Amino acid sequence: MVATTFTTFFVALNSASLTAAWASSGLNLPIPFFRIMFSLSFMFGGFLLFIEVDSLGSSPSLYRSSASTQTSRRMTGFVAVLFALQFLSWFSQPSPHSGPHPIPALMRKADLSHEMWLRQAGRSRNVNEAAKEYRRRYGRDPPPRFDRWFDFAAARGSLVIDDFDSMHEDLVPFWSLSPGDIRLRAFESISNNWNYIGGLQIRKGKTTITPHMPETHRWMVEAMEQMIEPFAIHLPDMDIPFNVNDEPRSAVYWHEMQGRLDIGLNPNQLPARDNGDFQPDRSWIPVPQESIEETRYRDATFHKTFYSYGSVACHPNSRARTERYWDLRYSCAQCRADHTQGLFVANWTAAADPCHQPDLADSHGLHLSPSTFRGTNELMPVFSQSKTHGYHDILYPSPWNYIDKSVYKPTEQDPDFEFADKESTLFWRGTATDGMSVGNGVWRGMLRQRLVHMINNATDSDESLVLLPSSYPSGSTIDGSGAYESSYKYHSIKPSTLREHLSASFGVVDHIQRCAWSDCEVQEREFRPDTHTQLDFQSHWRYKYLMDVDGAGFSGRFLPFLQSRSLPFKAGLAREWWDSRVTAWRHFVPVDVRFAELWSLLAYFAGYPEDASARDPADKTSRWVVRPHDDEARRIALEGRAWADKVLRKEDMEIYMFRLL
Ligand SMILES: *[C@@H]1O[C@H](CO)[C@@H](O)[C@H](O)[C@H]1NC(C)=O
Ligand SMILES: *[C@@H]1O[C@H](CO)[C@@H](O)[C@H](O)[C@H]1NC(C)=O
Repeated sequence: MVATTFTTFFVALNSASLTAAWASSGLNLPIPFFRIMFSLSFMFGGFLLFIEVDSLGSSPSLYRSSASTQTSRRMTGFVAVLFALQFLSWFSQPSPHSGPHPIPALMRKADLSHEMWLRQAGRSRNVNEAAKEYRRRYGRDPPPRFDRWFDFAAARGSLVIDDFDSMHEDLVPFWSLSPGDIRLRAFESISNNWNYIGGLQIRKGKTTITPHMPETHRWMVEAMEQMIEPFAIHLPDMDIPFNVNDEPRSAVYWHEMQGRLDIGLNPNQLPARDNGDFQPDRSWIPVPQESIEETRYRDATFHKTFYSYGSVACHPNSRARTERYWDLRYSCAQCRADHTQGLFVANWTAAADPCHQPDLADSHGLHLSPSTFRGTNELMPVFSQSKTHGYHDILYPSPWNYIDKSVYKPTEQDPDFEFADKESTLFWRGTATDGMSVGNGVWRGMLRQRLVHMINNATDSDESLVLLPSSYPSGSTIDGSGAYESSYKYHSIKPSTLREHLSASFGVVDHIQRCAWSDCEVQEREFRPDTHTQLDFQSHWRYKYLMDVDGAGFSGRFLPFLQSRSLPFKAGLAREWWDSRVTAWRHFVPVDVRFAELWSLLAYFAGYPEDASARDPADKTSRWVVRPHDDEARRIALEGRAWADKVLRKEDMEIYMFRLL
């Protein structure tokens, strides 16, 4: 008994310490050492087990009765199998520290999942098939006038007819509210001007903007009138609350949400409805001219919102709700382990899930110190352009993109060259606006500041791990002949060396915004916005690699980046209406919000030259440690461009909005 307990304990202890050491090591511990320790402890445990079973026999002697010999034979077999398994796993799993580069495999997986998605996204050829598929997927009848939607979508050549799963997920919880309650919550949201929620009213197919619309954001709801206009006559009467802030609003606690999902996902519990048209008799509460007093939203502007909003939708035992990540000088390697392969993002959906990432509390302006935040823990029917996982706002296509606030429109001075003719540089210009730093130094955690600091200002004491051929720095150079390294591992490299070998141009432009007191000066000194002039948006197309990163909410530039011939690298937590249509590693390059892999990505796509002065991929005399993967980069850039032309057109925004309403 003692031996069994000991064995179990020993094995458990070893596997736990192995996993912990592995995960927290930032990937530079000698893993083979741990593997050997693990195997030895496993063998030792097996040996103890073996002895114990032997000692169960009545005679302590080595010569036993036949019954106990049989037991011991069985045990020997068992232990042998354990050894064999351990041995196999030891040799068959490539160590994450030395092996093939993960990017080709990630690209292949992305192709596969994109093909699979595509095959089921628009299979229905007529409205009957579409309705049948709707019932199969969502367990309920499609809404009245579904046929008008189908005709609208088909006439505009929509590739996506069946897969609106993410829209469904947004809406499911609302089935737990009565129609009257939804109307009340919408009324409250749009009738108090403090809420910063603008109302759009539809009556008999005509749209009107309700009172209490913040003037600064009137353009947003006007753009929505434009988007809705082509199909407004098919819509029932409704009041739509549009969140005019960038930050999302409604985050419901896990327990409450489980109850709501139970109702929403189980159509048997839903009120019976007519099969005919929408019910005409809806008792609307008229929006008063005078702002109402009551509100369910609370102000958390400049406050850490992660614990009362950002993570409340996570299970109470999840890491986000039970752990705090304190050591902010180092990025939390364990927090990214669930969604990365090595340092690279392997699951873009999971990368935005806060539940296993307690460090997000201090890594993004929205969670750390939003510059405007009026949120609630109640389920509110509020429409937002983007949200992070954990919020329950209803996503809708961004009016920013619909009316071309940032647009892909190359000009004569700023043409969009063929990929090969672009400059091999990773480029970002912008303002540091994901959150507000009010003299407490929190800007140091914010996404954009961390990014620019890492590229421009990290000092040599902060070495970065970069995935380069295992044999680097000796004997790894490739001459252009096409042969290249098949074994890579992470090397610690000084930022100054990386800046010499890889070309990245990052700059905070204009002046430091969203700061107060000392935080303005300190950031001015750090980022020197005066040294970076603001450029015309169209000059982006000069560069092969375009960095895209969240602002206070989503980044309005991503769509034009995708439409261009350049390759977007995207980092952030904000997700938009198109999230399930666009596939990371097929249409763009995903980047973790800790940016640990950013240099490795650039080294892979742009190439890592042996000699820092010869890093032009077009230069035939350059010698490479990692050859430039121009073909792969161009492929993703062009796939993204072609795909945006198919499923992210303005027509697609209208089709999505029609179906949503
Ligand atoms: C990615 O993560 C999501 C959410 O965490 C999960 O549902 C999905 O199955 C994962 N996808 C893959 C391919 O592992
Ligand atoms: C950070 O980098 C920028 C751009 O290279 C430079 O202008 C600035 O002086 C640096 N700041 C510090 C504090 O070194």
